[in-house]
Amino acid sequence: MMSTSNVVAIDGPAGSGKSTVAKLVAERLEWSFLDTGAMYRAVTALALRNGVALERHEDVVQIAQECLIDTIPRVTINGLDVTEEIRGSDVNHGVSIVAAIPAVRDAMVERQREWSQRQARGTVVEGRDIGTVVFPDATLKVFLTASPEERARRRGDESADSINRRDEIDSTRAVSPLRADESAVVIDTTDKSIDQVIEEIVQCLHQR
Ligand code: CDP
Repeated sequence: MMSTSNVVAIDGPAGSGKSTVAKLVAERLEWSFLDTGAMYRAVTALALRNGVALERHEDVVQIAQECLIDTIPRVTINGLDVTEEIRGSDVNHGVSIVAAIPAVRDAMVERQREWSQRQARGTVVEGRDIGTVVFPDATLKVFLTASPEERARRRGDESADSINRRDEIDSTRAVSPLRADESAVVIDTTDKSIDQVIEEIVQCLHQR
């Protein structure tokens, strides 16, 4: 049986502050950190590099099933460093299409669970379906939100249109859509500092 006794699951839409917060919570707890978005992004990057049309699901699925992915310290797929490439506009555009393919998700979820089991201490795992699907028995589930204006402000290089499009695809897909699990602690980060959000999460964890 998979042990999920020491998992903090952090989900939320783009620009909700997930990545920053999840990484810092992991540092604070001295637990391992996994950015599952980087995995979907890496599969997308390799498919694009290989000239695979993303609508050709069987080709994308084959990549997802056969590839080797690392996310720390650099994001690599089959030994190829794609750390910068996965933040580019081509991957931003393709990733939600790839992430909506059920067999791609199955392959990634299996790796995420295996990875978590191999960690000596607890894990902080960040994504869209971590509390709902990947670790339904997580010790603590957090769902981060922020106002559309604030999320747009935090978006970095990605255009508001691109982010809205990803959120729309992620929230409406048939398999594992982005949503807060019933048992998740929902934190609106709009008017909170990063430190405040981290503090809130660590406090919640200690109350479990
Ligand atoms: O950069 P941002 O935090 O907005 O996104 P990300 O966490 O890097 O995830 C990129 C994309 O991967 C999302 O828009 C989803 O389509 C997909 N994703 C997913 O479907 N499930 C996850 N657990 C993580 C990411």
